[in-house]
Amino acid sequence: MSKKAIPFMLAAGLVLGSAPAVTFADPPAPNEQADHAFDNKVIKKISAERLYERVDLLSKQPREAGTQGEYEAVQYIKSEFESYGYETEVQPFTFQAWDGGTSSISVNGSDFAGDVHTFNGSVNGTVEAPLEYVGLAYAEDVPDTVSGKTALIERGEISFYEKIQNVIDKGAVGVIMFNREGTEGNDFGSTYEGQDIPAVAIDRESGLSLVNQLQSEEVTAEVSVQDAGPIDQTSYNVIATMKPHKNKDTGQIVTVGAHHDSVAGGPGANDDASGVSGVLELAKIMAKTPTDTELRFMTFGAEEKGLLGSYHYVSTLSDNEIDRISAHFQMDMIGSRDSGDLIMFTPDGEKNMVTDLGASAGARVAEVVEYGQLGRSDHVPFYMEGIPAALFIHAPLEPWYHSPQDTLDKISKEKLKETTEIVGAAVYRIARPDTPALENARVAPGPVHYEFDDRPL
Ligand code: BES
Ligand code: ZN
Repeated sequence: MSKKAIPFMLAAGLVLGSAPAVTFADPPAPNEQADHAFDNKVIKKISAERLYERVDLLSKQPREAGTQGEYEAVQYIKSEFESYGYETEVQPFTFQAWDGGTSSISVNGSDFAGDVHTFNGSVNGTVEAPLEYVGLAYAEDVPDTVSGKTALIERGEISFYEKIQNVIDKGAVGVIMFNREGTEGNDFGSTYEGQDIPAVAIDRESGLSLVNQLQSEEVTAEVSVQDAGPIDQTSYNVIATMKPHKNKDTGQIVTVGAHHDSVAGGPGANDDASGVSGVLELAKIMAKTPTDTELRFMTFGAEEKGLLGSYHYVSTLSDNEIDRISAHFQMDMIGSRDSGDLIMFTPDGEKNMVTDLGASAGARVAEVVEYGQLGRSDHVPFYMEGIPAALFIHAPLEPWYHSPQDTLDKISKEKLKETTEIVGAAVYRIARPDTPALENARVAPGPVHYEFDDRPL
């Protein structure tokens, strides 16, 4: 599908796909002052304090898709949008999750003291067999003696799939896996098709005590998994729409998104309470700012389960709506004090309308913003429909990514504010109407210079 509906004032000064990179002329382009005046209408209103407070509220508990934590986040986001004056839709969708049922271990006839977690995909069943420790379960380290036994495995270095396959290949009948060094908890593990033995996870401390016990005596373990299986769960998207001024409607739509779900057990302050807060801040400001473009602010559920919310949202759009969406801005992980620079990522690594707008807004408002190639977030389903889309994220990653340590204290107010300013200025650049007071100024952006244009991706 072609995206040709670019208003003349936007098409005018942009460097598109094949054009060579151009540097800003010196002296500055005559429209620069006008652009700054437009930018200021949005960015002067952005509050670092508000951005930070919302991350605080959202990251008090995990928001895994389908859980109460997600539901509460959804209600909060909806009520915020409504308090800014938006018509707000909560869009439910179902996805398949895993119910671990009940799993247990007994050791030499006594109940095992620690918590037992069922691997995703484990078969149901009970096996009673001698236990044998096989370390990390590299193929070459798994002895033939594990045949007919339950394998005790340490997590790490190779995939769950490989570990389990390696012990199955040697005839193991059950798996107990303990967590890797430096970790707490036992919420991990997956088995895959054809790996039909009961598999459970325990924490590191319990695992090491079993390893110890095995050094002094024979251990018979009973591993039991009951009532495990797939279940349908519900996650939600939250969508707030602002219609353009009736007499100045270009027919365009611009969407601005983030994902509100987190991984299990992670408070997701940066991933992605930060992006949600950015979306809410821009929604708050744009609610009072006339535009000639329909704006849709949205937060997606179940991103961490495979971009499910954004795929669902895109599937509900009509062809006409898809044609009218001229840009999708995705804010994900925009506030970590421990990550690198802001980068705009597109799934194909090519620049587009969104990166053009982001690059020129960045140059005006803050800094040169690099672009590169990456999927891994909710810009992908928009891209798949031919909608220009980009992910605004900092790279390299912080060490807290997807961990229980992704907490408020790692958030930089400055990073939150600067990224929201860049996205806000870019969105307003496309959404603003011709403002009479600024009518005489040339409002087309100057040529966009991507400093990193020629670097290898
Ligand atoms: N915020 C991340 C995406 C990300 C992570 C981008 C690191 C760049 C660097 C996102 O929430 C995430 O974790 N996505 C999943 C993808 C998915 C299809 C489940 C991922 O990358 O594993
Ligand atoms: Zn994320």
